[in-house]
Amino acid sequence: MGFDKQTIRDISVDNKTILVRTDYNVPINSSGAISDDLRIRASLPTLKYLLKHNCKIIIISHLGRPDGKPNPKYTLLPVAKRLGELLGIKIDFISDCIGDKITNAVKKLKPGQILMLENVRFYPGETANDINFARAIADSTGARYFVQDGFGVVHRAHATTSAITHFIPSVAGFLLEKEVIALSEAIDSEKHPLVAVLGGAKVSDKISVIEKLVKSADKILIGGAMANTFLNYRGINLGSTKIEPNEEKTLDKIYKLAIDRVGIDNIDEFIILPIDVAVATNPGAFRRRSVPLQSINMDEMVFDIGDATAYKFCKEIDGAKTIIWNGTMGLAENPTFSYGSSVLAKFITNIPDAVSIIGGGDTADFILKWCKYNNGKFHHISTGGGASLDLIAGRKLPGIEALLALKK
Ligand code: ADP
Ligand code: 3PG
Ligand code: MG
Repeated sequence: MGFDKQTIRDISVDNKTILVRTDYNVPINSSGAISDDLRIRASLPTLKYLLKHNCKIIIISHLGRPDGKPNPKYTLLPVAKRLGELLGIKIDFISDCIGDKITNAVKKLKPGQILMLENVRFYPGETANDINFARAIADSTGARYFVQDGFGVVHRAHATTSAITHFIPSVAGFLLEKEVIALSEAIDSEKHPLVAVLGGAKVSDKISVIEKLVKSADKILIGGAMANTFLNYRGINLGSTKIEPNEEKTLDKIYKLAIDRVGIDNIDEFIILPIDVAVATNPGAFRRRSVPLQSINMDEMVFDIGDATAYKFCKEIDGAKTIIWNGTMGLAENPTFSYGSSVLAKFITNIPDAVSIIGGGDTADFILKWCKYNNGKFHHISTGGGASLDLIAGRKLPGIEALLALKK
């Protein structure tokens, strides 16, 4: 599947005033510094292209959830500084997103210059998808085109993902295009076997993702706290592990779909659950016990897949041509329980010709750190959390739907 929306390549941007929506919702640490600038770096190809074409660029973004009120904790000023460092130019920053101040600043802007507006979520109209607020942004900036490049936020119908497109002709930037192509090509891949690795916190967060993969993957490996829900459903006693309540009906449905597809005799080779687990008596533990499913003590909790499972999952992945991974195999924030995820990351990055895709915010955080310290490389690590999951699940994303269609 290709990308069926117009991009900045399909319009004439030369010397125009362009409003670019980015997702600069980056983690800020307690001293106010950006702890991971992936989303800023990911926006550079689009910005460099527009700079090369002598555009006057206005950037609009959100940071955090400031609830429709100005809050210095969520200012985009540090992001403007970091972007300036990465591009090697000074970024003008203005502490508002609508009104005369913006209009005047845009008038002073020269081709090849960038103006960044303050956090658009300082106004309640942003998350309310308020048409008047969107009109005010369009009028204040006077932009000729709107470029959507904030992939991480296109699953939201907000003023700067949806309503704005009624006022300014709207096309995609390169990051958005790259994300959609990478994720949708993987999910509908012709490169089989397609192995899905699913884990993370909750089944209930991921129902549509699991259902989609049950339909398209050749094999689904389940780890993380999600596996605990599956194991509990299959009658395994998991000691003191907290189990997500009321998921029986969901799992009935998932198993029914899966059995319809592969038959009851093949179900355990299709949805593959851990054969052992790593347990401890608290999540901050420094030591883990890797034990068979039958040997979990009553005071122990499951925080990772076991050693035999990590080995088994690698064997299951071996030979895959496409791998889609969402959800860590354990409580990977604690290094004691990052073992399972690390073993899989190492194995996957050593398969020479498999397309490997990472989706999901916490999974991407873990994998990015892992890659940094282990020199590993995946084909695509999505910059989107919820957006990547919605795309994998096959949902239509409002911020993409609203863009101009490619001319036939
Ligand atoms: P993503 O954001 O990538 O979609 P999730 O939010 O579903 O992923 O889940 C990731 C989180 O799940 C991890 O950061 C970890 O805290 C938690 N997790 C995974 N496995 C376990 C486990 N066995 N016990 C407790 N927490 C777990
Ligand atoms: C994200 O970080 O997932 C996006 O920036 C969207 O943020 P939100 O969940 O606050 O809408
Ligand atoms: Mg998460």
